[in-house]
Amino acid sequence: MGENDKKISFNIALIGFMGTGKSTIAACMHTLYGMEVVEMDSLIEKREGMSIPEIFEKYGEEHFRNLETSLLIELQGKKNVVISCGGGTPLRKKNVSIMRKTGKVVLLTAKPESILERVGENHDRPLLEGNKNVSFIEEMLKKRKDRYEAAADLIVATDGRTKEEICDEIIEKVLELKR
Ligand code: S3P
Repeated sequence: MGENDKKISFNIALIGFMGTGKSTIAACMHTLYGMEVVEMDSLIEKREGMSIPEIFEKYGEEHFRNLETSLLIELQGKKNVVISCGGGTPLRKKNVSIMRKTGKVVLLTAKPESILERVGENHDRPLLEGNKNVSFIEEMLKKRKDRYEAAADLIVATDGRTKEEICDEIIEKVLELKR
């Protein structure tokens, strides 16, 4: 069986801090393994007809978090999908139990320095706006670390690795978990 023939009968939820590569890895999982991708942030933006910063500003973070939970509930019926979550999605226990019920949860990690580099100059992350520095990211990571790790079936480091290497590791390890 070739690499591309591996079939996944469950979902893979990619979680992790902003800038850990969830969207990049989800897209690569589509390219390498033909998995359908659901990009939670983009889908929410499309449906609401506004950007994430606009949703935060107009309706507040809690409202955005409720949209994430509703979307996860909706996705429960799917199979063979890579769900690229928002960085805050696994912070709600309810979200984690939904993700774990229908698939495997993979935590992507990166050093604060890499995160800073990857989030770059764009302004689409309200929680980092005005706080684009290593010490803020470090602090926020520290606050979230335990909850991220508790949610994860598998933890995959991304620093200094290609997206293909990361995808292959995810598939290999996730299939092992299912045994
Ligand atoms: C958030 C991460 C963002 C987005 C929102 C909140 C967070 O997603 O959902 O800005 O709380 O970490 P990305 O991780 O895709 O940037």
